[in-house]
Amino acid sequence: NGVITIDPGFKNTGSCVSEITFLEGEKGILRYRGYSIEELAEKADFLEVAYLLIFGELPTEEELEKFHADIKKNSVVDDDVKKILDAFPKAAHPMGVLSSLTSALTAFNPGSVDVSSEEAMYNAIVRIMGQFPVLVSWTMRKKQGLPLDYGDNSLGYVENVLKMMFKQPNEEYKLNPILVEALDKLLILHGDHEQNCSTSTVRVVGSSHAGLFASLSAGISALWGPLHGGANQAVLEMLEAIKEDGGDTKKYMAKAKDKNDPFRLMGFGHRVYKNFDPRAKIIKVAADEVLADLGVNDPILEIAKGLEQEALTDEYFVSRKLYPNVDFYSGIIYRAMGIPVEMFTVMFALGRLPGWIAQWREMRLRKEPIGRPRQIYIGATERAFVPVENR
Ligand code: CMC
Repeated sequence: NGVITIDPGFKNTGSCVSEITFLEGEKGILRYRGYSIEELAEKADFLEVAYLLIFGELPTEEELEKFHADIKKNSVVDDDVKKILDAFPKAAHPMGVLSSLTSALTAFNPGSVDVSSEEAMYNAIVRIMGQFPVLVSWTMRKKQGLPLDYGDNSLGYVENVLKMMFKQPNEEYKLNPILVEALDKLLILHGDHEQNCSTSTVRVVGSSHAGLFASLSAGISALWGPLHGGANQAVLEMLEAIKEDGGDTKKYMAKAKDKNDPFRLMGFGHRVYKNFDPRAKIIKVAADEVLADLGVNDPILEIAKGLEQEALTDEYFVSRKLYPNVDFYSGIIYRAMGIPVEMFTVMFALGRLPGWIAQWREMRLRKEPIGRPRQIYIGATERAFVPVENR
């Protein structure tokens, strides 16, 4: 009807219909394809969940085996990608590197842009599922000056990720089942979260029929920001700063409430959850377990628990329904696993990959139109051009 309503941040704007993820923020419910996140985190493994998200059903044993075999077959990243990686300064943030390399994969796999059949789409999907973990491990190894390597195809998907990240030269890598289980769970919990900033980005970029890898690269950039996936890095840096500052959580609570102070309590609040983030509940328990299993006594965990207790009873946080979100405890687990802080958001991207792919595939299969919001123009009205010498 020509009437444009403005909704900054799309707080009340639906952009699509979707069959992938159900989220009821008021009740703290999250389900992938109808299965509760609690049940999936406890009983499924990440690759099964990836299949479920992307194709809509839990795989049979045979389907899962084929999916994994196809991923492994496609996991070799072109050696020339290493040259691109080499050209980045060592200090580069791994999220920027990951986004660039993911985009670069299009150049090395030009066929991936053709998604005119379900088969072509499948080929692009198994290729990125195979190559993305290699890029993830390379971004970390580059920073640490370790030789780059490809995976070990005899291992499970998540086991392989850990080995690719942590294997030291001339040493055998021994997998720790506690770490495998913890990472598996973390990746499942990050698998999808309906139309968040990065996912909407993937859908919008993909809606122009840019290829899958270019759309994912845009999603990685969106995830990087501290208000989105970058919050997991920001949380840990905040907890460390509080520790360095003598552990005075009350001081930081006051800063977070002060409207003249830009500081926000990182890892708190969510656009959709106005109740406990169900993922945070599971991660909190997992953090306790992992730290106990590994025998790590991390003072940062105590600061986190202290902050949470204070926030849950604080009028400012209670009235605004600000609860800990998924990122509040994930960093504590990553840290215990030996993953550097700058890699935390990369780990989020690894978990979110199947969700992005599922959302992109759904958008393409539904033949959605190009994403193109409108605006209300508030600039100058028509003016006559003034030559530079007369200005
Ligand atoms: N600390 C202090 N005050 C906060 C916080 C916080 N973490 N989050 C929201 N508020 C206040 C905000 O100042 C506003 O107050 P008022 O009504 O007095 O102006 C009110 O709560 C509503 O906040 P909002 O910014 O309008 O809410 P939003 O839906 O636009 O933002 C958010 C959601 C997640 C960006 C925000 O809560 C935030 O910045 N949190 C910290 C960053 C973070 O943890 N992000 C990770 C999100 S979960 C992972 C993911 O899915 O990306």
